[in-house]
This record gives sequence, C-alpha cells and structure tokens, in this order.
Amino acid sequence: MAKVTELQVNGARYPVEADEATPLLVVLRDQLGLTGTKYGCGEGQCGACTVLVDGNPRRSCSTPVGKAAGRAITTIEGLARNGRLHPLQQAFLDAAAFQCGYCTSGMIVSASALLRANPRPSEEEIRRFMNGNICRCGTYPRIIEAIERAAEAMAKEKS
Ligand code: FES
Ligand code: FES
Repeated sequence: MAKVTELQVNGARYPVEADEATPLLVVLRDQLGLTGTKYGCGEGQCGACTVLVDGNPRRSCSTPVGKAAGRAITTIEGLARNGRLHPLQQAFLDAAAFQCGYCTSGMIVSASALLRANPRPSEEEIRRFMNGNICRCGTYPRIIEAIERAAEAMAKEKS
C-alpha cells in the first residue's frame, strides 16, 4: 500500500507517515496533534470530524489520507487569522452556541464553507447546509443564530 509522507495543513507542510487508506482524522490528531477535529461516529454520519479539503467540507473520519495528500487541508485550528478568531468562532462564543462543545469544531468548519459559497444564507439555507452536522446537545437554534451573526459580521467587515 502506498504511503503518504507529507500533508499541507493550515498553510504549512508537515511530514507524516501513513498508509494511504488511513483516515485523515487519525493522521491529523495522532501525528500532527490537531485535536480540535473530533472523532464522533467514525462513520461519516455526524460531522464532528469535518475539515476543509481545497475549501470543501469533508468528513475526515471517512476520508483516506491518500485522497487529501497534495491538497490544502484546513482544520478548526487554521481558521483564526493573525491572532483573531474567525467571525464564526467569535459568533459561536457570543451566541453560546454549544453545551458540551463536541460538535462545535465540525459545525464551524462546515459553516465556514457555507458562508464562503453563500455569504448571506437564509435560515432555511443554513438548516439545509448544516443538516449533516449533528449536535447531541440540541443547541441548533443557537447554532443557526451564530451563523447568522457571523454572516452579518463578515458582511460589515467587507463594507
Ligand atoms: S466522526 Fe466523522 S462524521 Fe462522525
Ligand atoms: S454542543 Fe454538545 S454535541 Fe453539540
């Protein structure tokens, strides 16, 4: 089986050593120490492990690392800029959009892809896009509020 020896994560290149079929999540957490990305179901069903691969949300538990090699991977640790939280991270804090926080990284990473594609989504569009991200604590109303707040903040930043 072919080996993956390097990954491009959050704008930097890192040496890794993994069979190409190893889940990306395992390499991110165990070899690179990027533990913000969570292991939930391990079956591509909950979204806790979501990262961006070339800007597209991907379930890292069910993405073989070989499929992510040579691509730009972004994890929750890579969203802040110059010591400043991403507007979504700030909005999740401001709206208290979590209880245990286990789903939060995946929620924020997925929502970042939504807002890049659709900067001012309606509530219905947010619900539809975020449908695959599960919050076992049921904080969905505050998660939607946080995404709306972030969209507004990002629109203000641009104007
Ligand atoms: S841990 Fe990957 S989708 Fe649940
Ligand atoms: S805040 Fe606990 S799973 Fe979402």
